[in-house]
Amino acid sequence: MSFSVEQARLLFPALAANGAGHTPVFLDGPGGSQVPSSVIQAMSDYLLGGNSNLGGAFSVSKRTEQVLQTGRESAQALLNAPSANNIIFDANMTSLTFKLSRAISRDWKSDDEVIVSRLDHYSNVSSWQHAAADKGARVHSVNIDPQNCNLDYQHFESLINQNTRLVAITYASNTSGSIVDLQRVIAKAKSVGAMVYVDAVHYVPHGLVDVQALGCDFLVCSAYKFFGPHLGIAYVADPWLEHLAPYKVEPATNIGPGRFETGTQSFEAIAGMTAAVEYLAHWNSDTGDLRSALVKSYQQFNAHEQALSHHFLERLSKHPHAQLYGESSNQRLANRTATFSLRWPNHAPEQIAGMLADHNIATWHGHFYAQGMMQQLDILNKGGVLRIGFMHYNTHQEIDQLWDLLDQYCL
Ligand SMILES: Cc1ncc(COP(=O)(O)O)c(C=O)c1O
Repeated sequence: MSFSVEQARLLFPALAANGAGHTPVFLDGPGGSQVPSSVIQAMSDYLLGGNSNLGGAFSVSKRTEQVLQTGRESAQALLNAPSANNIIFDANMTSLTFKLSRAISRDWKSDDEVIVSRLDHYSNVSSWQHAAADKGARVHSVNIDPQNCNLDYQHFESLINQNTRLVAITYASNTSGSIVDLQRVIAKAKSVGAMVYVDAVHYVPHGLVDVQALGCDFLVCSAYKFFGPHLGIAYVADPWLEHLAPYKVEPATNIGPGRFETGTQSFEAIAGMTAAVEYLAHWNSDTGDLRSALVKSYQQFNAHEQALSHHFLERLSKHPHAQLYGESSNQRLANRTATFSLRWPNHAPEQIAGMLADHNIATWHGHFYAQGMMQQLDILNKGGVLRIGFMHYNTHQEIDQLWDLLDQYCL
């Protein structure tokens, strides 16, 4: 079936009218997406069929092992990892990053350097600051270009050198929607032998990742941002899968991805994530493999989201006093996600979000842990921004509802 927003919306119970007859408008996707029924069903099916840990001789335990393996294969297809063994799970992206940063930094020394960026959510900043502080290593932070909130590539290139051990970089900003030219960043990092750790949390609901084409060492994402449940997913490239020594309990396995998975995983969340990947892939009539189905679905999501962005920017152009933090050109929609951050001179972001909430429209206000960007733009202590984020289930009509209110309130 090809993608249509009307068909998609029918699959998401939370998008339907609530008891009071109001249809909620979710423009808060960058904070967490809504979930199709198939994901909810897969999670309850796992628990209804019996709950167990791994490694038992009995059938429910064997089924749990299968759920875990299928989950790894689904994430493998989503990220185009070479093997399901390159996939590890944890509660969320932040926990994964703290955990991996401890293992990655074990042999860092005081003359080593790490590069983080102001475009990043602080999960991909603080983890490395702590790891570096433990070893006396130095941390550099790459600025953004304040004109368009893209990464300042020249600044990045001035910071990297033979001592750089790791570059921690986002694929896309959860605030400005800026997409990073990862090919350029990774090529530069590899030229000095540095590892690259990519935060793809904001990118995955909007763009299809290919870790093999990127050549990154690590890439992390979160299923609750791509129509699944709360679950963190990491891709760990082959050499590190074997050569890193994670902090783990002694009796736990020393082989494969399980080495990195401390404690018992949320198997119901892994079952839900598998259903989310199937949902993403089902928007085409082909009977090809999961990865090629994903490629076709994402092409359709991209076309729809770019049309939404186009319409949003057209209505924004009637607001000369609004300040947009990010790319504003319709010609550069492929360089951004459909995530927009704004400020108006006479209203705090929180006030506007409150007014919209009174009309059943969910948006976010504040800094979203993108503290470095807010500091550079000098808005961290001024209430941050109003963030409006579109997913492929959003409509032109919802954008009009939003702007009809903003036209009255903010002009
Ligand atoms: C870009 C980005 N990275 C990382 C995170 C942290 O993800 P998690 O909540 O899975 O720890 C978020 C959460 O909002 C995010 O937007």
